[in-house]
Amino acid sequence: MDKNNASSFLSCILLSLVVTFTWSSVAPQVEARAFFVFGDSLVDNGNNNYLATTARADSYPYGIDYPTHRATGRFSNGLNIPDLISEQIGSEPTLPYLSPELNGERLLVGANFASAGVGILNDTGIQFINIIRIGRQLEFFEQYQQRVSALIGVEQTQRLVNQALVLITLGGNDFVNNYYLVPFSARSRQFALPDYVVYLISEYRKILVRLYELGSRRVLVTGTGPIGCVPAELAIHSRNGECAADLQQAADLFNPQLADLLTQLNREIGSDVFISANAFTMNMDFVSNPEAYGFVTSKIACCGQGAYNGIGLCTPASNLCPNRDILAFWDPFHPSERANRFIVERFMTGSTKYMNPMNLSTIMALDSRI
Ligand SMILES: *[C@@H]1O[C@H](CO)[C@@H](O)[C@H](O)[C@H]1NC(C)=O
Ligand SMILES: *[C@@H]1O[C@H](CO)[C@@H](O)[C@H](O)[C@H]1NC(C)=O
Repeated sequence: MDKNNASSFLSCILLSLVVTFTWSSVAPQVEARAFFVFGDSLVDNGNNNYLATTARADSYPYGIDYPTHRATGRFSNGLNIPDLISEQIGSEPTLPYLSPELNGERLLVGANFASAGVGILNDTGIQFINIIRIGRQLEFFEQYQQRVSALIGVEQTQRLVNQALVLITLGGNDFVNNYYLVPFSARSRQFALPDYVVYLISEYRKILVRLYELGSRRVLVTGTGPIGCVPAELAIHSRNGECAADLQQAADLFNPQLADLLTQLNREIGSDVFISANAFTMNMDFVSNPEAYGFVTSKIACCGQGAYNGIGLCTPASNLCPNRDILAFWDPFHPSERANRFIVERFMTGSTKYMNPMNLSTIMALDSRI
């Protein structure tokens, strides 16, 4: 390094120190990696509490095992999948985007835009009336970025979003609460199942491309779980407690095509932006062998009524099991906190059978080097 270079190098350091100093005195610094969540009730942290909808989890006994022992809008007895991912990446849990508490520096932690009842299609979940459809969730993400820009500037915001972790969970409701909701549903008269799946995938592609355009660079995409095996479907669509064949077939068609779509998008982008999380296998592990996971059964929901506690909603009047840790399902559709922990463990350290092309520990190690 000659003298000139050395002095310009020094002034560069000085300049960046000055910039850093003035910057931190006017704006809060971005610290841990931000986390953004999109999708349905498997990942909603409470947005629906603020909406006039029947898809809600804001009263007892929801949240019975949550740290506050209060219902929060999470469809769980305790923590849900996004909470446990936040725990793993060392962040505070994200607040629902509609929460009035989501302001100031709390915006830098990220946000949860998910809304119970939504699907890939706009007509999924219409029976729940007022929910935040996925297109609207993406508009809120844009609005979020404008709000954060006012706080830390456009460039810092861009960086925060590019470096963030994103989770999106969609698809289950397009079958459960649309195609198979009633016999001869409009969509089932319009499409044979294989054609409906192709249509869903083509619509999902647009959603994922939009997420990328909005700055997302690490996106965990879950396929659907074993939707034929949830207590609600055992109660209405199955004989002898076996998983409902039509819904399982839907998942069997949908999940591999979603995985292919992600591979194709990554190839087009030239980078591993989209990570396929095989929710089907993650759930199927404890559904087909509950005892190996310390569950007494995977067929009966803790909270509900009727066959398998699978009929209707979980309400204060429902049956409630005394020990939530020994059942895989909390309510007729949603895993218990303990089951969610097994799922997120696979997110973190699962082999390519569960996480493709890589698991979350690998992503964290890779991204920390940038
Ligand atoms: C869903 O609704 C949004 C907003 O109204 C619209 O922009 C979008 O095109 C719709 N999607 C489909 C597949 O109709
Ligand atoms: C997943 O994580 C574990 C470590 O936690 C690692 O050994 C393994 O290689 C990872 N698998 C993949 C496919 O990245």
